[in-house]
Amino acid sequence: MAPSVTLAMNTKALELKAKGVDVFAFGVGEPDFEPPAHVLDAAKRAIDAGCSKYTAVTGIPALKEAICDFTEKSRGWRPTPQNVCVSVGAKHTLFNLALALYEPGDEVIIPKPYWVSYPEQVRLAGATPVLVDTREDQGWKLPPESLKRALTPRTKAIVLCSPSNPTGAAYTEEETKALLDVVRSHDCWLIVDEIYAELVYDGFRFASAAKLAPDLRDRLIVVDGVSKTFAMTGWRIGWALAPAPLIKALDVIQGQSTTNPTAVAQHAAIAALRGSMDDFARIRTMFQKRRDAMVAGLSSVPGIKCRKPEGAFYAFADCRGLLGLDWNGKPLATDEDIAYWLLEKAHVAAVPGGGFGAPGYVRFSYAASEERIAAGIAAIRRAVEASQPAGRQAVAPA
Ligand SMILES: Cc1ncc(COP(=O)(O)O)c(C=O)c1O
Repeated sequence: MAPSVTLAMNTKALELKAKGVDVFAFGVGEPDFEPPAHVLDAAKRAIDAGCSKYTAVTGIPALKEAICDFTEKSRGWRPTPQNVCVSVGAKHTLFNLALALYEPGDEVIIPKPYWVSYPEQVRLAGATPVLVDTREDQGWKLPPESLKRALTPRTKAIVLCSPSNPTGAAYTEEETKALLDVVRSHDCWLIVDEIYAELVYDGFRFASAAKLAPDLRDRLIVVDGVSKTFAMTGWRIGWALAPAPLIKALDVIQGQSTTNPTAVAQHAAIAALRGSMDDFARIRTMFQKRRDAMVAGLSSVPGIKCRKPEGAFYAFADCRGLLGLDWNGKPLATDEDIAYWLLEKAHVAAVPGGGFGAPGYVRFSYAASEERIAAGIAAIRRAVEASQPAGRQAVAPA
């Protein structure tokens, strides 16, 4: 298995920070603010109420009800508590799904660029990820014909992520329907990762595959969680919405590994899901402004091009124009070089695209204030403007 590049970059950035360097943290995939106060209060109350024991493996009934209500309110369809398995974050949910569903010989279709953990989890289960190209000039979206071509009798599942990490691309209702039509023609699972569903901008309407295709719900799995929407990455609560027999399999796997997600965190998640979403319009507007600042800023740097994404909080920039710049006597040869060079020269932490299956690209998280984004962009511009192509001597000013 490949180690997570995101975490490797983060370690390097932390080392610099420990030396007193002011690092622009555009590498991490988490909001830069605290969860709502009512969430923290609910956790404190849960501690005082003695919430210290094991719970049901797949989550307490009150949380499952809250998840069903939230899904109905936000996605327009209603699962039942028998369709819910709560795990230790959505990453854990996906991991359990890989163990439950895949075996050697199985193929799992994953559009590229992909979130780093998808193919690794498939490999861990002994199955084969089938990575299908998407194009930036087609919005990084999987064309239905490409999906059709990738399907084989061995295809066990298709994994879609909308809005996507790392590209921020989100499928419209029409695009989702076209993919669902292809799925209808083939007997396999469809896993839809909706962890960024609330984070869409410019009035984009999130399209829920489960709402659009009730006929596919017996082989459709939704992955979701509180990490991104409610700034609760550290609380580790995610879930699968799936047919009841699959939930039973997840229950067995989780019961032999982690047992329940943390009891107190489950109560915090109930408060998050049941709380008012009034403040969310403000958060969405804030992220939209940050996106605009990051995308415009990156695009203004010579050698960098950046598409405006529909959602999530990542700008996925084409940095191939920086390749060949001098880096301590050698040319920048890969996106990994570019990311380490940015960290060294501009003190900007970002994640190289190779780990997401997109060499030459770099992912910049805009979960940072507009001031930090502006200052980070200015640092990148200074670093680029001070650089020469490798092999060319800098000319001293006259
Ligand atoms: C696309 C995607 N899915 C799932 C996750 C996992 O989220 P968590 O395990 O924090 O719930 C992440 C986190 O970065 C993500 O980007």
